Amino acid sequence: MKNYKIAVIPGDGTGPEVVAEGLKSLEAAARKFDFHYEIVTYDFGGDRYLRTKEVMPDSAVAELKTFDAIYLGAIGHPDVKPGILEKGILLKLRFDLDQYINLRPVQLYDERFCPVKNKTCDDVNFTVVRENSEGLYKGLGEFRDKGTPDEVAIQTSYNTRRGIERCIRYAFEYTRRYGRKKMLTLCGKTNVLTYAFDLWERTFYEVAKEYPDIKTDYAHVDATTMWFVKSPEWFDVIVTDNMFGDIITDLGAMIQGGMGIAAGGNINPEGVSMFEPIGGSAPKYTGKNIINPLAAICALAMLLKQIGQAPAAAAVEDAVKKVVREDLKDLAAGKMGYSTSEIGDMVAKNLK
Ligand code: IPM
Ligand code: MN
Repeated sequence: MKNYKIAVIPGDGTGPEVVAEGLKSLEAAARKFDFHYEIVTYDFGGDRYLRTKEVMPDSAVAELKTFDAIYLGAIGHPDVKPGILEKGILLKLRFDLDQYINLRPVQLYDERFCPVKNKTCDDVNFTVVRENSEGLYKGLGEFRDKGTPDEVAIQTSYNTRRGIERCIRYAFEYTRRYGRKKMLTLCGKTNVLTYAFDLWERTFYEVAKEYPDIKTDYAHVDATTMWFVKSPEWFDVIVTDNMFGDIITDLGAMIQGGMGIAAGGNINPEGVSMFEPIGGSAPKYTGKNIINPLAAICALAMLLKQIGQAPAAAAVEDAVKKVVREDLKDLAAGKMGYSTSEIGDMVAKNLK
């Protein structure tokens, strides 16, 4: 029987609460679909940093490379200056594990939870493939004349042909395999970012020649946000750079019902991938048992799919769908009609 090694990083804020609920579904899925798993928990996050002054030990990346997957709660602590934990843990793991894809499905499970009028579950059903290793996230830049009235801050978007191409290729393959409409849209800003998105556009249409079965389309990022609200049904799979992908997927999360349900995967197709709810650590809800764990449970479903347990992944997703459709009053923290742990139990029970 297959035995998976899964690293769990509960992290900060509500991260540990939602991860605990995801693990209930992992356990139920393992029983039902007959696989074993071992869990090793890592305490990376704000509390550890405040206690030890170390964000992550040097051995962390090498150790994490030995796992089949990583399950992450949330990173971000109110007592730690913004950037330290994000760069030192989340972005470091994405970069050092070369998780060059950030996969973010935008799927509405119940019309009641869409803030846009008259949109159905079929209308809000697309996936964003966000480049996850380059762009503005590379951290390149400098201050000039810091602290003076003439100060200049430069932040450079770093885009390599190889980095763009592997992301675009992944997006075409993904569209071929899973796309409903077999249509891939490049989201960019070719009218202003005439270096970065020139390279993206050239690469996109060159790679497209190898995928004659996939329809291609282009949308500027500003127009993309407009279409997310006006006609989300237009989209199937979207590929974009790191920064734009970050921004448009928060809007994507809103039209699928909010941060309570939005999950993502940091994927290295040839290595170790890491799955997380995209909503953050939500400090004000911490410890209250009122945060929605469904995003974390959906991230667990993505993890199962990635490690080769597609039927278990589909079962977890169906179990979530049933709870969303039949039980919940709302998807927002504190308004669901049930507590965090009750919802985790309900999903796991649906899996039995
Ligand atoms: C996300 C988050 C991160 C990002 C932050 C926490 C660094 O917003 O996963 O979307 O910007 O990528
Ligand atoms: Mn984000």
